[in-house]
Amino acid sequence: MASEVKKIGAKGYILPALVVAATFITIYTVTVIIPDMKVMKVDPTKYAMEYIEKDTNGKPIIDETGKPKLSEAGRGRAVYVREGCVYCHSQFVRPQDRDFGSRVHAGDYANETPNVLGTSRTGPDLSNEGGKMPDAWHVGHLIDPRAYTPGSIMPSFSFLSEEDMGDLVAYLQSLGRKRLEDPKNKGVYEAYYPEADTAFWQKSEHHKPNVDSATAANGGAGIFRQNCAVCHGTNGLGNGPNALAMNKKPANFSRPFFKAYSDKTWYYKVAEGVPGTRMPRWKLILEPEQMWYLVAYLKTLPQDQEVIIQDYQSIDDKAWEGQSILPNKLRASYQKLGEAKLHGTYQANPGGLTGSETEGGSSGGH
Ligand code: HEC
Ligand code: HEC
Repeated sequence: MASEVKKIGAKGYILPALVVAATFITIYTVTVIIPDMKVMKVDPTKYAMEYIEKDTNGKPIIDETGKPKLSEAGRGRAVYVREGCVYCHSQFVRPQDRDFGSRVHAGDYANETPNVLGTSRTGPDLSNEGGKMPDAWHVGHLIDPRAYTPGSIMPSFSFLSEEDMGDLVAYLQSLGRKRLEDPKNKGVYEAYYPEADTAFWQKSEHHKPNVDSATAANGGAGIFRQNCAVCHGTNGLGNGPNALAMNKKPANFSRPFFKAYSDKTWYYKVAEGVPGTRMPRWKLILEPEQMWYLVAYLKTLPQDQEVIIQDYQSIDDKAWEGQSILPNKLRASYQKLGEAKLHGTYQANPGGLTGSETEGGSSGGH
C-alpha cells in the first residue's frame, strides 16, 4: 500500500494545490482587492453628512478616547443604530419612489459607517425627514406613536433618556438637511414655509372635490378623526388629549374668526401647517384630495359662537368623557405630563409619559 501512495508523488499534489490557490486568490480579489480599488470608492457629495465636531480650522476634534468627537446628531445616529430603527426605516430614495422627497446618491453616505440604509419599509423612508416636522412632533411621536398616527405599529420609545431623545431628534432633523437647504432644490422642497406659488395651487387642483357638498364634508370628518382629533378634539374645539401637554394650544374652530376663512386659506393652513407650533405640514402626509375633503369638513363646523376651553388643567374627568379617544389611563398620564410641563418639573425619563419628578416618573405610561 505504502508504495502505491508514493507513486502519486509530489507531482500529484500540484493540480489540487493550484486549484486551492486559484480559489483563494479569486475570493481575495473579489472581496478585498476590487472593492478597495480607487474606481470603486465614492467621493462624498456636497450633501454628505459628517456627524462630528470640528474646530475653527475645520479639523475634527479628538476626544479622550482618541476618536473624533461626535456632534449632537452624531450621538443621535448612534441611538438610531442601537434602537434598531433601521429594521423598519430605510434611508434611500430611488427614482421610482414617490413621496419620500429628492433621490439620493451613493456619495451622500460616503462618511457614514455603519450604514443605515436599511432594507425594510415597515415605516416610511427617512432620507429627507429633516425639517419635515417640528422637534416637538418627533418627541411626542417617539413617546407615543399611536397618539399621532392612529394604528401605527411603531413601538414607543418613551424609555429613552432626555439626552438620548434630544440627540435622536437632532439626528432625524439632520436627515436630508443639506439637500433641503440647497437653494438649487428650492423648487423641489419649497424650503421651509414659503408663500404658496402657482405650482402649489396647480397641484392642489388634482382631484379636487366639490368642497360645498355634504359628501365631501362627510369624507373629511373621517380624515379629521383619524389625523386631527388627537390635537383639535373630536369636535374641533382644540381640546384633543394631546392639547394637554402643549404650550401652543391647537386651534379651536368654533371661533367666529374662522368665518372669514376662504376655501383656499383653509387649504393653505392645512397644507403648510403653522410654523413654530406642533401643527404639521399635512401636504407631506396627505394627498391634495384628502386636504380638500378636510376643508369641506372644517367649513361645516359651527363658527357662530365661540366655545371657550380656557383651562386645560382644570378640566375634570367628567367633562372629558366622550371627548377623548384615548383610554382613561393614558389620558391621566397626559394630564400629568401637561401639569409637569406647566410647573416646569417635566423630565423625559425612563418612567415614560408622566415624567414628573414628584411622580417618581414610573407611575404612568402604558
Ligand atoms: C416596528 C417597526 C418600527 C420601528 C422599530 C421604528 N419605526 Fe418609526 N415608524 C414605523 C411606522 C409603521 C411608521 C408610520 C406610522 C407612524 O407615523 O407612526 C413610522 C413613522 C416614523 C416617523 C414619521 C415619519 C414621517 O415623516 O411621517 C419617524 C420620524 C420615525 N418613524 C422614526 C423612528 C425612529 C427614530 C425609530 C427608532 C428609535 C423608529 N422610527 C423605529 C415603524 C417603526
Ligand atoms: C400635533 C397636534 C396637531 C395635529 C395632529 C393637528 N393640528 Fe392643526 N393645529 C395645531 C396647532 C398647535 C395649531 C396652531 C394654533 C395657533 O396657531 O394658535 C394648529 C392650527 C391649525 C389650523 C390653523 C388655524 C389658524 O389659526 O389659521 C388649521 C386649519 C388646522 N390646525 C387644521 C388641522 C387639520 C385639518 C388637522 C388634521 C389633518 C390638524 N390640524 C392636525 C395642532 C395640531
